[in-house]
Amino acid sequence: MTDVIRTRAALQTWRDGLAPDIRVAFVPTMGFLHAGHRSLLDEGRRRGDRLVLSIFVNPTQFGPNEDLDRYPRDESGDLRQAEGCGVDVAFCPTDPEQMYPSRSTWVNVDGLDTGLCGRTRPGHFRGVCTVVCKLLALVRPHVSLFGEKDYQQLAIVRRMHADLFLPGEIVGMPIVREPDGLAMSSRNAHLSPGARADAVAIHRFLTRVHQRFAAGERSRERLLAGADTELAPGVIDYVELVDAESLQPVATVERAALCATAVFFAGVRLIDNVVLAP
Ligand code: PAF
Repeated sequence: MTDVIRTRAALQTWRDGLAPDIRVAFVPTMGFLHAGHRSLLDEGRRRGDRLVLSIFVNPTQFGPNEDLDRYPRDESGDLRQAEGCGVDVAFCPTDPEQMYPSRSTWVNVDGLDTGLCGRTRPGHFRGVCTVVCKLLALVRPHVSLFGEKDYQQLAIVRRMHADLFLPGEIVGMPIVREPDGLAMSSRNAHLSPGARADAVAIHRFLTRVHQRFAAGERSRERLLAGADTELAPGVIDYVELVDAESLQPVATVERAALCATAVFFAGVRLIDNVVLAP
């Protein structure tokens, strides 16, 4: 039975009541759960004695012209899935004040946020880091699970976690895809049938990049060639080739790199990536 907790005080009381040898696994989300989230919860169930899910559409990670108001929500559907995945506690603060009693303290990770999503979404990772840091302080998990679709988010959270000596281990989990290759995302729900069909272009393009890489190509220019045509009719936010650790652009792949992209299909921004490991 999943317990729904709405306040940080009640979450802290629950956490304080656990014996020290009980391992806590944690999956932070913004809800509208899909198979990608369920893969994190299943892994959390395997790794923890107690499984905590958070559902909070974090306002501070959305820019003024972004889709905060339109972000898909379905709490009762989420709680049904949570139950099915064996979640012990779903932390669902309905009042944002629960997470932001003041808006004075922010967590910023310099450097890793300059490119990719950080370039076109200024302040986004500051919002992500701040809320993840607060959630880790409340849940005090032994292990927290994040999806690799948000590769830059995972890299930044790992850095924050190491630099601030935050509790537990951070685990990245592979991207979960629809049968035709589209990466699972809550935002897919906003795609019209036409845009949904067009959006498969992202996976087709990344597969092509990976094939070129597997065939020995190492030049950025040639690996990314044809992106405009192959991603049409999508509107490209970015298509980048970066070092897999520093996230700085590379001209030639000499060690593990990441090809990452963000593309709008009919106004819906989708991200995806592929790791190119020599
Ligand atoms: O990946 C997400 O859903 C969010 O960025 C997260 C990590 C839950 C923070 O709000």
